Amino acid sequence: MTVESSPAWARLRAHRESLAGERISDLFDRVPDRGTEMTVEHDGLVLDYSKNLVTGETIDLLVELARERGLAAGIEAMFAGAPINVTENRAALHTALRAPADAVIEVDGVDVVPAVQRTLGRMEAFAREVRSGRWLGATGEPIWAVVNIGIGGSDLGPAMARLALREYGTGTMEVRFVSNVDGHDLRRALQDLDPATTLFVISSKTFTTVETLANARAARDWLLSSIDDPAAVARHFVAVSVNAAEVEAFGIDPANMFEFWDWVGGRYSLSSAIGLSLMTAIGPEQFRAFLAGAHSMDVHFRTAPPHRNLPILLGLLGIWYRNFWDAQTHAVLPYDQRLARLPAYLQQLDMESNGKSADRDGNPVAVATAPIVWGEPGTNGQHAFFQLLHQGTVMVPCDFIGVLVPAHDLPRHHDLLMANLFAQSQALAFGRGGEPDAGGEHRAFPGNRPSNTLLLDELTPYSLGALVALYEHKVFTQGWIWNINSFDQWGVELGKILATRIFDDIDLDRELAHDSSTNSLIARYRRLRKL
Ligand code: F6P
Repeated sequence: MTVESSPAWARLRAHRESLAGERISDLFDRVPDRGTEMTVEHDGLVLDYSKNLVTGETIDLLVELARERGLAAGIEAMFAGAPINVTENRAALHTALRAPADAVIEVDGVDVVPAVQRTLGRMEAFAREVRSGRWLGATGEPIWAVVNIGIGGSDLGPAMARLALREYGTGTMEVRFVSNVDGHDLRRALQDLDPATTLFVISSKTFTTVETLANARAARDWLLSSIDDPAAVARHFVAVSVNAAEVEAFGIDPANMFEFWDWVGGRYSLSSAIGLSLMTAIGPEQFRAFLAGAHSMDVHFRTAPPHRNLPILLGLLGIWYRNFWDAQTHAVLPYDQRLARLPAYLQQLDMESNGKSADRDGNPVAVATAPIVWGEPGTNGQHAFFQLLHQGTVMVPCDFIGVLVPAHDLPRHHDLLMANLFAQSQALAFGRGGEPDAGGEHRAFPGNRPSNTLLLDELTPYSLGALVALYEHKVFTQGWIWNINSFDQWGVELGKILATRIFDDIDLDRELAHDSSTNSLIARYRRLRKL
């Protein structure tokens, strides 16, 4: 049965109609304890979803939808290592990366946990060597800078987490991230580094990603132009990949490769060896804490009843707005500068996972799928795009994310930050309340605009792990209900093929045979490139 033909879907449609004139402020008036009643907590992570256009009945119906769509069985299938990535015939087992060492999780009859633990152990030994100065470069100097070269899931997760956890430091060590094939990225990252004290972590699941290999080769040239000895590569390059053959072909010693497995999707790989640069930055113990936080959320997702289950609730609320209120976008608004890259990270997680229009069986999906995810930290966003959130003509459901205890010594700054967070969700929900809108329409604050508030006690490796897993499972919940495969990404392929063709066109100077727009753009580039 397709999602739109399920009984709960029809009931949700009717229910949505019945809420047509409903106002969030009325919902609060009717249930005075709504703010606490619609708050759910797990392990120091609090979700207040009361400022949404929902009633208890809405949540019941959404949970019923999840039941009809077999979400519980889907969750079990994922955790058990079933090949739920149907188009690639693979499991999606990122949860095994943070399972306890004595867990048994089988893929094709083989327990994957020992291999996970082995790699973790190797990562830890490496991180300790580098952090302690025992890992020496080719000229005998300790490493000062670690540069992660990777893109997409091989960059966004560790880069986001590194920024978030900068206080869990490296002493004087530097950890940088290069992702873009735009040469400015690499050149800027390397401009003040010394090859003798720089180590590159080439992170690529496939080890065939054009951008990453181009950057890795340029980094190798940079090293060898300073240390004229091919053997230096072994002391300055390590790889994180599933593809040992390509790693070796690149010239990296397999002894310096940290493996993961095809059952870890790129955008779900932060808990895998892709976290190596993060681990080097924050240390093995803190990386273990990150995994423990993620595992705690995994257990919660698997076991908590839907009405108290944070990822399920977030997923269902997203479906409510995407499918029943036609909300096209979803804003992620971290009120914490340390989480500045979270929106970008969640863009890949959500949009690459669920930005699909074919279902798991290859049929067109009849309902809207992933929203456009976007956002910026508060309070910066307030002085940029919040105008539209308050008075624009589109509904933008928001996730406000705040951290109660900061890691700095400016308490009144933090009070101000948090006051702004609370004020913004209040203004969105309630508008100007009973006050007359002096100045007419221009100054009107209609309110009735929905948001979730997520509060973390502190931003630690543990709580960040839980936050990452929360969103991973939110995305899974939605994908399962829409019956789409959240773990492939065929939509990125065509651009890659065309770019390769055009790249050759530019270089070979052959006659162009594209559409007239592309021809003329390439021709113009060719002319200027030769200047
Ligand atoms: O092009 C999309 C993508 O395949 C992502 O899914 C992935 O995270 C990224 O490229 C990088 O891939 P890799 O780790 O294989 O270099």
